[in-house]
Order: sequence, then C-alpha cells, then structure tokens
Amino acid sequence: MPTEADLVQAARAAREFAVAPYSNFRVGAALLGSSGTVFTGCNVENASYGLTVCAERVALLKALSEGERDFATIVVVADTAAPTPPCGPCRQLLWEYCGDIPVVLANLNSVTGRHRLQDLLPFPFDGRLLSS
Ligand code: THU
Repeated sequence: MPTEADLVQAARAAREFAVAPYSNFRVGAALLGSSGTVFTGCNVENASYGLTVCAERVALLKALSEGERDFATIVVVADTAAPTPPCGPCRQLLWEYCGDIPVVLANLNSVTGRHRLQDLLPFPFDGRLLSS
C-alpha cells in the first residue's frame, strides 16, 4: 500500500497541474482507495468563479467514476505555512463517499496537520437521516 509520504508526493505532483489563473492558489489532492489505487486531483478554476472545482472533489469524482468505492485516506497540499483544510462542500462530499477517513494536510515542505473527517464535519447530514 502507498505510504503517507507517497500520497503527499502524489498530491504535490498533482498540484503542479492546477488550473488556477484567478486565485493563483494551487491545490493538489491524493485520495487513497482501499484497493491501493491513488486518485489525484488539482483545483480547476473557471471565469464564472462559481464553477470552480476543488482539488479534493476532482480526486473524489475521478475515483468514483473509475469504480472505487472504499477509501482509506486523503492528502491535501497547498503552498501555505498554515494548513489548508477542505472547504465545507468538499467535506460533505467526502463524508458521503469516504466516511470518517483521515485527512492529512501538507505544504511543499512538510505535513502540517492530521485530522479525522468527522472532526472536520461534526453533526453531519447524511443518508441515514433520510430513512429514520
Ligand atoms: N481550493 C481547493 O482546491 N481545495 C481546498 O481545500 C481549498 C480551496 C481551491 C479552490 C480555488 O480554486 C482556490 O483553491 C482558492 O479558493
């Protein structure tokens, strides 16, 4: 299985492909499937701004569209001293498909934070509530 260091390296490499001409804030993500496959993503911005897709969501949708259904961890990389955590909508989507996975935050030099998704999204809305 890929190590955390492998995932950080993959997220840093994916970040190089970021399409971020509006914010110049480049983000990379690496999502590890339980199969051992690593799915990477970068942020992809749009002139409409609102259609921008975050790196985490790109990685997640790539994985789901290629059949991966179980996930082990996600790494998010940005070139910031402070950790860059997933935005609210990404937390919601990651919760739906990945559950309480570890969320590792890193920059170009080091890991800056290790969290569980449940701690980043307490009291979530999810499908269990639709059937209760
Ligand atoms: N962004 C991500 O891709 N992931 C995050 O976790 C935070 C924000 C992107 C969206 C946008 O392209 C840029 O960073 C600035 O918000």
